[in-house]
Amino acid sequence: MPTALIVLAAGQGSRMQSDLPKVLHQVAHAPLLVHALIAGQSLSPDRTVIVAGHGGDAVEAAARDHDPEATVVRQTEQLGTGHAVQQAQAALDGFAGDAIVLYGDTPFIRAETLQAMLDARAAGADVVVLGFEAADPGRYGRLVADGDRLERIVEAKDATPDELSIRLCNSGVLAADAATLFALLDQVGNDNASGEYYLTDVIGLARAARLSARVVTCPEAETMGVNTRMDLAAAEATFQTRKRTEAMENGATLTAPETVFFAHDTYLGRDVIVEPNVVFGPGVTVESGATLRAFSHLEGCHVSEGCVIGPYARLRPGAELDRGAKIGNFVEVKNAQVHEGAKINHLTYVGDAEVGARANIGAGTVTCNYDGYFKHRTEIGEDAFIGSSTMLVAPVRVGAGAMTGSGSVITMDVADGALALGRAQQVTREGFATRLRAKLKAAKEKR
Ligand code: UD1
Ligand code: CA
Repeated sequence: MPTALIVLAAGQGSRMQSDLPKVLHQVAHAPLLVHALIAGQSLSPDRTVIVAGHGGDAVEAAARDHDPEATVVRQTEQLGTGHAVQQAQAALDGFAGDAIVLYGDTPFIRAETLQAMLDARAAGADVVVLGFEAADPGRYGRLVADGDRLERIVEAKDATPDELSIRLCNSGVLAADAATLFALLDQVGNDNASGEYYLTDVIGLARAARLSARVVTCPEAETMGVNTRMDLAAAEATFQTRKRTEAMENGATLTAPETVFFAHDTYLGRDVIVEPNVVFGPGVTVESGATLRAFSHLEGCHVSEGCVIGPYARLRPGAELDRGAKIGNFVEVKNAQVHEGAKINHLTYVGDAEVGARANIGAGTVTCNYDGYFKHRTEIGEDAFIGSSTMLVAPVRVGAGAMTGSGSVITMDVADGALALGRAQQVTREGFATRLRAKLKAAKEKR
């Protein structure tokens, strides 16, 4: 059965107190909307339609960035969830199959849960709603049901005291044949406490038309929506807990899991060791058997087998480390390929560079890559030895097996096997320090 995803993302989210549309707030470095899309895309939908409104251009850009094939439609006035779904109708012209409605601010619905909803559809239910037992039902819509047979949904604002005592609540996720859904939506009015067109009204209308409606349930944690900054922090915590568990289940050791922060797309291979307080930005892949030592920060980088990173290392976008490379404390690597077995162990900046296999970069080395206008490359050959505190003024190349003397400022290419010294000649004066000290001591005593 073909499926179409309809993701509602037009709301402002006024309780966020933000200039950014709510669905663009991030959990684990991805917008809430992208989390919702990833959840929905587990069903391999044939079409994805995002209903944008507040901050529509920014929402559209974020949606396109994640999925260039998604259709973004606009809901210029937020007249309710039912009205929002109707905005997707034109974009789904000619589509025959199931429509699944998700909210852009509800990031954690699991693939299995969405699949269970489609299974209920396949088993004959005309409309399927995702419900959950709420610890505190508060403002949620209540599911008036008999077992899994759903009769109608009543919004909290419109509910009687009896209905308010129902704990089974509406998550907002709904699945139905697309044509049926739009036909039911045509009948939805706005004569209710909010004056809105409620998507939830389609259940009562379906039942009146002798169609069947079923509830599929999931744990409350999955349906967690984000309405406030506190919710956003709670969502981040939930995501991190899930991701840490997943990393350990997949064979990584996390010494202090609660101190490690992942991005939505972090990939760790087997037997990776992650020490305390390691933080991942987006786009990090760490291969098997690498060790990430304490307090390191990684973003947009690739760490190969057997590398040791940190403690206190920073890998920035484009850091590409081959097998067994070592990056030590207070070392920053950006847009640089570090080949097999190379060592950059202390207090160093390597940016826009290539470091050859087995090269050793001394403490305090800097690739001077930026002149204020342009970035320039540094190439260091294999087996090269860069003396401590070498300034490599790019563009510059140090050949294979070459050496630079400590404290050198290297502005010209160094041939393979050569030694380059770029520093003032040392001058030593015998006894000078002793005489100077005596003179200064005498001067001080006279005061
Ligand atoms: C909705 C449900 C409620 C459910 C709750 C779960 C309705 C009428 N009520 O209530 O039963 O328990 O979600 O969180 O459906 N949106 C639009 N355009 C609109 C209105 C909303 O795109 O015109 C989007 C919002 O951006 C949001 C989602 O739809 O992502 C839900 O809207 P919201 O106003 O938060 O619905 P609730 O009142 O919470
Ligand atoms: Ca809401």
